[in-house]
Amino acid sequence: MKMGADSETIVKTCVQLANQTPGLDFVILTGDLLQDGEPYNLDMIRHYLDQLKMPYYAVLGNHDMSPVHAHDVKGPIFPGISKSVFTWAFQGHGFQGPDYHWSQTVAPGLKLVGLDTTVPGTWGGTVPAKTLAWLERELAASKGQLVIPIAHHNLIEFTPDDHQHTRNFLVDNAPQVRAVLEKYRPTVQVAISGHHHLSGRRDHQGITYLTNPSTTTWPMEYTTYQLRSDKLTYQVKALPLPPAMVDEARRNLLAESWWHPRGAPTTEPAKTEAILSQYRGQPSDRSGTIGLQPR
Ligand SMILES: [Fe+2]
Repeated sequence: MKMGADSETIVKTCVQLANQTPGLDFVILTGDLLQDGEPYNLDMIRHYLDQLKMPYYAVLGNHDMSPVHAHDVKGPIFPGISKSVFTWAFQGHGFQGPDYHWSQTVAPGLKLVGLDTTVPGTWGGTVPAKTLAWLERELAASKGQLVIPIAHHNLIEFTPDDHQHTRNFLVDNAPQVRAVLEKYRPTVQVAISGHHHLSGRRDHQGITYLTNPSTTTWPMEYTTYQLRSDKLTYQVKALPLPPAMVDEARRNLLAESWWHPRGAPTTEPAKTEAILSQYRGQPSDRSGTIGLQPR
């Protein structure tokens, strides 16, 4: 399902597209930049991302460090990079110094905070108490600004079928993390994540949570944002990739039962459509406007 063999083409396409997009101020990468923490993939993706003509900001994903979760490993475990290697490789792209989390003012009155939600050896996530305390201090010091937290793992459930297996899409202390964000409204009104490989929007207690699609799994999309002082507009768009590649990704998604809601078989058209619909998202998952309160 993950189009690893085509990922170099996909990254090149993303970089070209960003560089050709008028008025694009910065790019956010919501983690999982590598397949499984390979040092050579770190060098390769940096080679392409450094060709972006605008700033880019990255957070750690569960595939960006060693060891990876055992279900991804076939044969001996290949020793990949550590969190520190990733953090130092992307200095200036959010990361400033040795911390795995970061805060970056990207425009007057607008700050991004990158959270580290990863736990080496598992594909699940958490926000450690130390990071949560740092986040709270950061939010308390940002009164009057809009702060958008960026996390790899989701901070709220996006799909109704989040059963035991897929709960790892969510940080295990999501209610505590959300309580901190809610405490600091209207400084925080929107939070962005990745990891789930689908497009999602949920409004909860005055905060809108958005999860962004993956570029390397069907439907191979990305999200654009337009921010004004009183609203944030978002739109999910297809990458301009060869149709045969996108069709192969679609077939791979349907053939890989692990990713299906409750392991649904793919032979029945209705269930096939249910799977594709989940990954495509509902209209409100794919585009919309979030009204922003004065800070
Ligand atoms: Fe992930």
